[in-house]
Amino acid sequence: MDIKIIKNENPKEKPPVDNLGFGQYFTDHMFVMDYKKDIGWHNARIEPFGDLVMHPAATVLHYGAEVFEGLKAYKLEDGRVQLFRPSDNMKRLNNSAERLCLPQIPFEDLMESLLKFVDHERDWVPDKKGTSLYIRPFMYGHDPYLGVHTVENCSYIIIASPSGSYYSDSDLSPVKIMIEEEDVRAVRGGTGYAKCGGNYAASVRACDRAEDKGYSQVLWLDGVERKYIEEVGAMNVLFKIDGIIVTPELNGSILDGITRRSCIRVLKDMGYEVQERKISVDELVDAMENNKLEEAWGTGTAAIVSPISVLAYKGREYQIKDGGVGELTNKLYEKLTGIQWGLIPDEYGWTVQI
Ligand code: PLP
Ligand code: COI
Repeated sequence: MDIKIIKNENPKEKPPVDNLGFGQYFTDHMFVMDYKKDIGWHNARIEPFGDLVMHPAATVLHYGAEVFEGLKAYKLEDGRVQLFRPSDNMKRLNNSAERLCLPQIPFEDLMESLLKFVDHERDWVPDKKGTSLYIRPFMYGHDPYLGVHTVENCSYIIIASPSGSYYSDSDLSPVKIMIEEEDVRAVRGGTGYAKCGGNYAASVRACDRAEDKGYSQVLWLDGVERKYIEEVGAMNVLFKIDGIIVTPELNGSILDGITRRSCIRVLKDMGYEVQERKISVDELVDAMENNKLEEAWGTGTAAIVSPISVLAYKGREYQIKDGGVGELTNKLYEKLTGIQWGLIPDEYGWTVQI
C-alpha cells in the first residue's frame, strides 16, 4: 500500500506523563484513507491531526454509520514500541464494518496502516509505567444525501492519544458497578457484537444515572428476559464463584473482548476451570448472599483488568469480599500488563514490536 506522508509543520508540545488521563491529548498526525464505491479504498496518507469537514447530510451524522477499535502501544525499556494482539482488533474492525454495511478493508492494509502510523508517531508513546498510547481506528460513512442505504463514501482514520488509566489514578482501583434494570444495551440480532458508536450512544443514559448514584458504570442484563448478565459499559465481566471462573458466553449481543479472550487463556493455563455460559442475575445474587462470589472483575483494553468492589441490584449493595483487589484479579493484571509492557516473556506470541 502506498502511504503518502504530509508532515505537521507545527508539532505540539508533549503533555506531562504524570497526569495524562484517558483520551484527552492527541498526537501530531492521523492516518486517513478514503473509500468511494467506484474506486474502492484509496488515497492512504498520514497527515497533520486536525478537524474533519463534513457535509451536513453525511450518513454518520444522521444514521450512525460508524465503527471503531481501541488498542494500545507500549514503550519497552529498550525503546521499541509494542502492540498487543493488533491483528485481533483489525479483524474485529472488519467484522463490525460488515454488520453496519460499511466497506471492509483488506486485512494486510489494515495491519500495514496501523504499524506504519504507530511507527510514525512513536515519539508520542509515553514511557512511564502504567501509561500507553491509546490508538483509535475508526470508519464512518459520509454520503451527502439523506436516504437510508449502504454508504458509497466512507473514510477510515486512525488517531492516537497518550493516556494513563481509564477510571482513576491507578488501574487497580476497585470500581462500584450498578446492575441496570431499565435500559438495555443490545439484543441478539442487533449490533451488540459490533464495536459501533450507536451502542455507546444508547448506553450513556443508564451510565449517567449510575454515576449520579456513585457508581462507575452499569452491568447490562440481556435485552429479552432482563435476566442474564451481559457485560459492563466498556468491559467484559468475569466472576470467580466457588473457585470456578464464570463469564457470559458470546451470544451475539456482547463484544468479543480481546482482553476477555486473553484472560480466559491465561486462567486456563493457570489450571482454572473457565465456564463461558449464561449467568442469571439471580445466580449472581445467590452467590453474593451466600458468600460464594470470591472475585469479580471487568476486562477491556482501556480499563485492562478492573476489580469490582461492589455490585448494586434492586437498590441493594453487595460488597464483594472485603471490597479490595482480589488475589486472582491482581495476578491477571500483573500477567497481562507484564506481557503488554514487555516485563515478562510473551509465551503466547500476542505482542508485535515496532
Ligand atoms: N465490552 C465493551 C462494550 C467495550 O467497549 C469493550 C472495550 O473495548 C470491551 C467489552 C472489552 O473489549 P477489549 O478487551 O477488546 O478491549
Ligand atoms: C476500549 O477499551 O478500548 C474501549 O473501547 C473503551 C472505550 C469505549 C472508552
